[in-house]
Amino acid sequence: MLKLGVNIDHVATLREARYRGRGGGEPEPLEAARLCENAGAHGITVHLREDRRHIQDRDIWKLRGAIQTRLNLEMANVPAILEIALKLKPDIVCLVPERRQEVTTEGGLDAAGHCSDLAETRRKLNASGIEVSLFITPDPEQIRAASQIGSQFIELHTGAYAESYHEIARRDFELNRLMASAEFAHSLGLQVNAGHGLNYHNLPSLLRVPHLVELNIGHSIISRAVLVGMTQAVQDMLALMAPYRPGQ
Ligand code: PXP
Repeated sequence: MLKLGVNIDHVATLREARYRGRGGGEPEPLEAARLCENAGAHGITVHLREDRRHIQDRDIWKLRGAIQTRLNLEMANVPAILEIALKLKPDIVCLVPERRQEVTTEGGLDAAGHCSDLAETRRKLNASGIEVSLFITPDPEQIRAASQIGSQFIELHTGAYAESYHEIARRDFELNRLMASAEFAHSLGLQVNAGHGLNYHNLPSLLRVPHLVELNIGHSIISRAVLVGMTQAVQDMLALMAPYRPGQ
C-alpha cells in the first residue's frame, strides 16, 4: 500500500500569521497531526527551518511525544538543526536544501556535490536509530550519490512534474524521468518516496511511477482542509492513492 505522510507545516504558517513570537495560538499543529492520523495518514512530516518561519521547536517536541505513526523531520544539513534532530529522534530525517528567500523548498539537494558531508550526517543519524532520506531531483547522478552516501530512502522531487502538469509534452517528459529514476533507485536498493507540489488533480497520473513507498504532501491537503476539514481532506487523498500498485 502506498503510504501518505502529511506535511503539516502550513498549519503552523497559519498560526504564525497571527501569533508569531507569542507561544500558543491556533491552529495547533499537534491537533492537526492527530486528525491526520485518525483519518488514516501513515506519517506526519514537519520542516524545522533555520528561520523558524512556521514550525517551532516546541511543536516538534510535542509531536514527538504524541504521534502514533511516524515522525519525518525535514531539515537542512546544518550543525544546529542536526543537534536538535539527534536529541529529538524522529523516525526518519529527510535532508533538504534550504534557502532563506524561498517560499518553499525549491530545488533538490545537491547530493553529488556534498557526498562526504551528507555521508557524515547520515552516519550520525543512523547511529542514533534514525533513518535517512535525501530529497533529490530525479537525476541519475543524484541517485547514484544517494546510494554512495548510504541513505535508506530518497524522496524524488515532484515539483517539475507538478509545474508541467497542464502541458502534456512536458508532463510526459517529467513523468518519464520520475519513472526511470524510481526504477534506477530501486535497482540500487534505495527505498523511494516522492513529494512536492502534489495535489488532488496531478496525483492520479503520478501513480504510474513504480516502487513508491510514501508520498509526502502538504499544501494541497492543508488547503482543502480549510474548506472541508482535515479528516475529509486526508481521506480524499488516500482514496486517490488506493489504486497504486508498486511493481508496475
Ligand atoms: N517533500 C519535501 C522534501 C518538501 O520540502 C515539501 C515542502 O515542504 C513537501 C514534500 C511537500 O510539498 P507540498 O507542500 O507542495 O505538498
